[in-house]
Amino acid sequence: MPPSPSPSSPSPPWTGTAALLLLLLAVPLPETRWGAHGPRVAGALRVQEQFATPNRTNNFAVDRVSGRVYLATVNTVYQLNGTLAAEVELNTGPVEDNLLCHAPQLPQAPCEHPKTPTDNHNKLLVLDPGQGVAVVCGSVYQGFCELRRMDDISRVAVEFPPRGEKTVFPSMLNVAANHPNASTVGLVFRSHGGRTRLLVGSTYTGAGTPFFPRNHSKEDLRFENTPEIAIRSLDVRDLSRLFTYDINPSEDNVFKIKQEVKTKNKLNFVHAFARDAYSYIAINNDAKTGHKESQPNSILARICLDADGPKRSNSGSESRKLTESYIQMPLQCGPSGNIYNRLLSVFPADVYDHDARRPYLFGVFSRSDKKSALCAFRFADIEEEIRQGRRNCSNSPSSDVQVLDSVIQGSGAACIQKGNLVVSSKKLLYDDPKVS
Ligand SMILES: *[C@@H]1O[C@H](CO)[C@@H](O)[C@H](O)[C@H]1NC(C)=O
Ligand SMILES: *[C@@H]1O[C@H](CO)[C@@H](O)[C@H](O)[C@H]1NC(C)=O
Ligand SMILES: *[C@@H]1O[C@H](CO)[C@@H](O)[C@H](O)[C@H]1NC(C)=O
Ligand SMILES: *[C@@H]1O[C@H](CO)[C@@H](O)[C@H](O)[C@H]1NC(C)=O
Ligand SMILES: *[C@@H]1O[C@H](CO)[C@@H](O)[C@H](O)[C@H]1NC(C)=O
Repeated sequence: MPPSPSPSSPSPPWTGTAALLLLLLAVPLPETRWGAHGPRVAGALRVQEQFATPNRTNNFAVDRVSGRVYLATVNTVYQLNGTLAAEVELNTGPVEDNLLCHAPQLPQAPCEHPKTPTDNHNKLLVLDPGQGVAVVCGSVYQGFCELRRMDDISRVAVEFPPRGEKTVFPSMLNVAANHPNASTVGLVFRSHGGRTRLLVGSTYTGAGTPFFPRNHSKEDLRFENTPEIAIRSLDVRDLSRLFTYDINPSEDNVFKIKQEVKTKNKLNFVHAFARDAYSYIAINNDAKTGHKESQPNSILARICLDADGPKRSNSGSESRKLTESYIQMPLQCGPSGNIYNRLLSVFPADVYDHDARRPYLFGVFSRSDKKSALCAFRFADIEEEIRQGRRNCSNSPSSDVQVLDSVIQGSGAACIQKGNLVVSSKKLLYDDPKVS
């Protein structure tokens, strides 16, 4: 466990400025929709409230109902009220740790490597209002996660692993990336059966990567144990399975890049979000950075969630392998030869055009020269590209087409035919804004 939580007394060193969370309010915003003349510029933004922390911000989340803001920084997680007053401060580090040691939550896992005080970089902070819990995962202890109470994050919601539990596996503990620089994204959803699930994408940090200490290849505790993408149980009623992907056949819930092609697929996860019955994960493939700006390195992956909501007509059996439903396409921002090939952030949003709802995916991309651009992709086009990719492989026995090289472990790419999907940006809205 990270050190015991500090009492719920805010002791604000407001003077620090390393991290600043601002609550912004657009002042006069008479027209929030885009008219025929394109986007309107909102009035000057005015800072309403601010909250400063001494250490770098890693993540934040907002509860729509209570208005609370949860803010994770290196070594501390804050619970703030709607006007950014600290309600609770939870100290999460530094802790005694060593990258080569199993999480201390693993029973009978002594470690001969010297442990030293290690900063805890928050890797994942997602809320599950349905169960009233916040999922808090740090970089220490192999990316160990905790479930904390949304009404008081200093309190653990459920003890995990359960006290006295002998059957604890590293795969239940190694959830987030265990290195400050390695990416992690996550998403909570509810499956058809009403079970709560956590979708996690995290950069592989094992042997052979820059994140792994040299000369220790035999002691890679995360090798094979941490898939790049996994769907894990988050059901607090089923404690013995919490954070496992051992739900239905376990191989249905993991997506692992084969060891021999990991160097060609260095996935840097940018964001995961749900839309309709799907989850989308935006990714950069860092193996391709440094190449000429002639190819997009950014990927949009789509996964069927088997989530609550409108059932798809031929969804068939409830469970479906993650690798089978997985489909990916490049996200290209900028014309060929001048591609902004690194995705910095994405946001799905509806744009109204004469009262017609048009869902878009907005993405900010950068180039090696640090210039950046905002591209908008129509979801209708994304869906059409995916449909086409499927159709092209319709003679395959599976109707679920993989548009992916055969790089994943286990049953996957039923369709070997490589799709060469490129969604061209429909609008290059701004060139070279000062982003980053
Ligand atoms: C900030 O990080 C340092 C170590 O890098 C740690 O000693 C300190 O306690 C942290 N402060 C907070 C408020 O998290
Ligand atoms: C947040 O807490 C501060 C200090 O207790 C209080 O003044 C403020 O009204 C609270 N804001 C909300 C939205 O509850
Ligand atoms: C992590 O990021 C820091 C700051 O950008 C950099 O100095 C360091 O080399 C990086 N380490 C790894 C292993 O990527
Ligand atoms: C790693 O091993 C090589 C050869 O065995 C040695 O020369 C080098 O100093 C070692 N590096 C570290 C960081 O221990
Ligand atoms: C599908 O196949 C057609 C004909 O071979 C080709 O023109 C098209 O580009 C392919 N579409 C995708 C998305 O792969």
